[in-house]
Parts: sequence; C-alpha cells; structure tokens
Amino acid sequence: METTIIAISNQKGGVGKSTTAYNLGACLALNHDKKVLLIDFDPQANLSEYLKYEPDGNPTMTQLIMSFYAGNPVTADTAQRAIRHSETAGVDYIPADINLANAETLMVTMISKEHILRRILTEDVIGAYDFVLIDCLPSLGTLLINALTAADRVLIPVQTQKFSMDGLQSLEALTQLVKANTNPKLNLIGVLPTMVDRTKVSRTAIETLNEKYGEMLFRTSISKSIEAAKSSENGTPLCLTGHKLGQEYDELAQEVLSRC
Ligand SMILES: Nc1ncnc2c1ncn2[C@@H]1O[C@H](COP(=O)(O)OP(=O)(O)OP(=O)(O)O)[C@@H](O)[C@H]1O
Ligand SMILES: [Mg+2]
Repeated sequence: METTIIAISNQKGGVGKSTTAYNLGACLALNHDKKVLLIDFDPQANLSEYLKYEPDGNPTMTQLIMSFYAGNPVTADTAQRAIRHSETAGVDYIPADINLANAETLMVTMISKEHILRRILTEDVIGAYDFVLIDCLPSLGTLLINALTAADRVLIPVQTQKFSMDGLQSLEALTQLVKANTNPKLNLIGVLPTMVDRTKVSRTAIETLNEKYGEMLFRTSISKSIEAAKSSENGTPLCLTGHKLGQEYDELAQEVLSRC
C-alpha cells in the first residue's frame, strides 16, 4: 500500500480535528493493522497532549521547521529523532509545541515557504507508513498551506451544532488555490459531521452538507458525547473504550480505507 497523506482541516476551532486525528489514527492502527504516523501541526499541541507527549530533548515539528530557516534541510536522521511512538494508540507521531507559532511567523519570510513540510516528509521518513494524518490548526495561514501542499487528501470535520457554511467556503477556496499553485494532486477525501445529536440544528446541518457534498459526505457521522473529552484526557483511544463513538470512528476508518 502506498502512503496516503491526509490533512485534517477546518479553520473553525473546536470542530473535532484533533479528536479525529487521534481516533482515526488509532483505529487504522489497532483495528486495521495499518502503519500510521500522526503529525501535530498546531501550536496549541492538543494532539500531542492526547498522545501524552512529554518534552524529551528530541526535536519537535518546531525544530524541524527552524532547521530549514537556518538553511539546513532536515536530515533523515533528525526527522527519525522527531518521531515518537504511542504504545496505547499504536501509532508513531511527531509532536508540536507552542513555539510552532513563532516558526510560522518566520516561515513567511522563507523561499518556497509552502513546501517546507513536504520537504520534511521525504520518502525516507514516511515511506514505511500506510497513512500520515496531519492535525491542522484552526486558521488559514502558512502552516495550513504547508499541510495542504504536503497532503494527498483533505478530511474536513464539520461541527453540526453551531453550523455555518461560510467557513467551509474559505477552506475550499484555499484548497483550490493550493491545487492550482503548489499541489495539483490534492483532493477531498470526505466531509465528516461531528458532535451530531438529535436536535434540529444537527439534522439540518447534515441535510445541507448532503446537498452540497453528496458522495463526498462520509456516511459515518460522529455523535456528540462526553466520552470524546474523557478519552483524550485519559489518553485512551475511543476504539479501546467499547463506547459507541469507538464504533463510529471504526466505521470512518473503513470508509477512509475504501476511499484510498
Ligand atoms: N464527538 C464529540 N462529542 C463531544 N465533544 C467532542 C467530540 N469531539 C470532540 N469533542 C470535544 O470538543 C473539543 C474540541 O475538540 P478537538 O480538540 O478535537 O477540536 P479541534 O477542531 O481540533 O479544535 P482546534 O480547532 O482548537 O484545534 C474538545 O474538548 C473535545 O473533547
Ligand atoms: Mg485541534
């Protein structure tokens, strides 16, 4: 199986990007025997927290980018040192930290600034993985453009509670710009309704998404449940908890596999 790089993005905050990166990654690894690399590409570093990352002196995503800034392209050895393993989630990952925000500011001044992440993720670094999932930050800046430039596919979680199509339009416009300028092979893998409940707002949101995206809307949706927060706090992937959300994330994993 070739490596598929999926950027999990939506510039709206709190829609379930990090929860999805963590749980989809764990499902693909634990239930479907796939080799998975998670990349925390958000200075808030929520995904690193979910993975129980503790600073250990090895490089994070920030140092990998800063090394480019200093004019030293990242060696395969340095990139390997940036990769940690989570026994519980069955995945490898590259953590982020708050200084990634400063790195983003410096990236803006760099030549070929859109391609930095792509250059870090060489065949040497990601060749052994079936899936690389990039957890994006909630903004439309240089880091997101880097993630979209490095990715093959985009997965968009959409919060069905406080639903708005406006945000989706700006993400789509940016995706089209990236496709036209830095990454012609970029394509949507699907739109994922999250925090779904029995309210009318939720139902209407799914109907609207279905009209707009049709086949590109995942058949699976993720229910609203406190279990999501509990699982990330404990650092236990939902597929190991026996909760219905674990089943839903597994159905998502199956859909992702069938779409690759
Ligand atoms: N299905 C769900 N049901 C209820 N709460 C959820 C669900 N998924 C995620 N949450 C909670 O919502 C909050 C935001 O989730 P998450 O961190 O995954 O979103 P995000 O899109 O990555 O946010 P940000 O844009 O800040 O990076 C967290 O507290 C998380 O536990
Ligand atoms: Mg997040």
